[in-house]
Order: sequence, then C-alpha cells, then structure tokens
Amino acid sequence: MKNRLAQLIQRDGRALFLPIDHGYFQGPTRRLERPGETIKPLLPYADAIMLTRGILRSCVDPENTKPIILRVSGGTSVVGEDLSHEGIATSVKEAIRLNASAVSLSIFVGSKYEHDTLLNLARLVDECEDYGIPVMAVTAVGKELEKREARYLALACRIAAELGARVVKTYYCKEGFEKVVEGCPVPIVMAGGPKVDSEMEVFEFVHDGIQKGAIGVNLGRNIWQHDHPVAMIKALRAIIHENATPKEAHELFIEARGSRK
Ligand code: R5P
Repeated sequence: MKNRLAQLIQRDGRALFLPIDHGYFQGPTRRLERPGETIKPLLPYADAIMLTRGILRSCVDPENTKPIILRVSGGTSVVGEDLSHEGIATSVKEAIRLNASAVSLSIFVGSKYEHDTLLNLARLVDECEDYGIPVMAVTAVGKELEKREARYLALACRIAAELGARVVKTYYCKEGFEKVVEGCPVPIVMAGGPKVDSEMEVFEFVHDGIQKGAIGVNLGRNIWQHDHPVAMIKALRAIIHENATPKEAHELFIEARGSRK
C-alpha cells in the first residue's frame, strides 16, 4: 500500500493526476476522441493517469511507465436516466493484472443511488485492502454542478474517508474549502470540472486549493481541452511541485506557449 501510494503522491507530498476517463459516461469527449494522441505530449508532466481498462488496453503503450489509476465504476451514460446509478464495472483481479497503482470509483452523496454507491466504495475498499491497492473515491455530482459548495463537499469527502478511501478527489470551492480539507483525514486532490474561459482562473483555484491543504489535482478538461495543453500542464506542475504563484505560472504558460498572442 505504501509503495503504491508513493508512486502516486510524490516525495514533496504533492500530486498531479491526469484523468482521461471521461468517455466512460460521456462518450468521445471533445479533444479526447483519440485519448492516446491526447496524452502523448502530456505524459512527461503527469504523476499518474486515470482511465478505464478499455482505454488503457487500446490506447496506451504498455511500456508506458506512468502509474495507472484505474477507474472501476461505471454503467451509466449522459443520455441515461440517472448518472448516479453506477456499479463496479472492473474487477480487482483485472486491476492487478493491469498493474494499476490505484483504483477509483465515484460516490454520489445525496443522490437517489447514494446508498448503492457508498456500499460500492466500502466493498471495493474491503477487496483492495487485501492486495494493498489504494482506492481513490471520486465525490461526483453528476449534472448538479451547483452542489460544489463547502458543506456538501465536506460531507462527501468525509464519508469517502470514513468508508476507507485512501485518497479523495473532490471539487474546489471558493468559500470554505479549508473546511473541506480539515474534515477529511486523507489527502484530497481537486478536479477541474468543465473547461473555463481563462487559464488564470485555473491557476488561481489550484494555487488557492493547495494553500488550503489539497495535495494537488486530478484535472482533465482544463488541460487537454485547452488550445495549449502542454503549456497548461507545465504551468500547473510549477504551482503543484514548485510552489509557483498564479502569476509565475502564467508567465511560464506564456513562455511554454511560445507567443504572447
Ligand atoms: C469525470 O469525468 C471524471 O471523474 C474526471 O476524472 C474528473 O471529473 C476530473 O476531470 P475534470 O478536471 O475534467 O473535471
């Protein structure tokens, strides 16, 4: 367990996870139509990649040496009845065979299927602990993006940790994010959500979230849907691993992009 966690969380205690699992319920998401191509230039800057077994098998070179966080929950789609109705879609045996460093699963606190997704997490933890595999719980909100506020996120993160998650992925919120972190005894990484208009907004929230105790990000669309994804990930890496300020990260972004536009 310790060894696997050390593959994901770097020696400085921080982490930059690159998720490309979106297709498991969104289909061919914009700029993730060919995931292998999307991640090729980004891989050197990521500490781990998060994805499903199907994309791992068909789009990622098996000689890739980046740690894998295997998304094992699923069974819903954006056009289906209820995004919260997820089950466990990949076995722990398969995770071991694919040499995953961790597995991830969504919980939907406050949804119709809250109970089922929480028990999915508990059962997955039971099984994974036998093999020393960390479980990263994803506090998912489905289409209800307005749920991303401190009271709700603190509740969901704490429940995930109580049920045995070793890492929790949640959203950042401007007000009270420190309360989310304080109430969660395991490391928190932040997702980005739908792409926002300005890169500075991303640098600012990642920086602020880290000041308030998050260990890093599990951030996808705001990197690979950007016109300059490599510049984005380089700048984010500087915030996470080199304590760069948002301004310094932006300078780096401009430099990496190669023009002031
Ligand atoms: C949802 O599709 C997945 O759990 C993503 O891994 C997560 O939302 C992070 O990606 P993004 O930063 O694009 O929201």
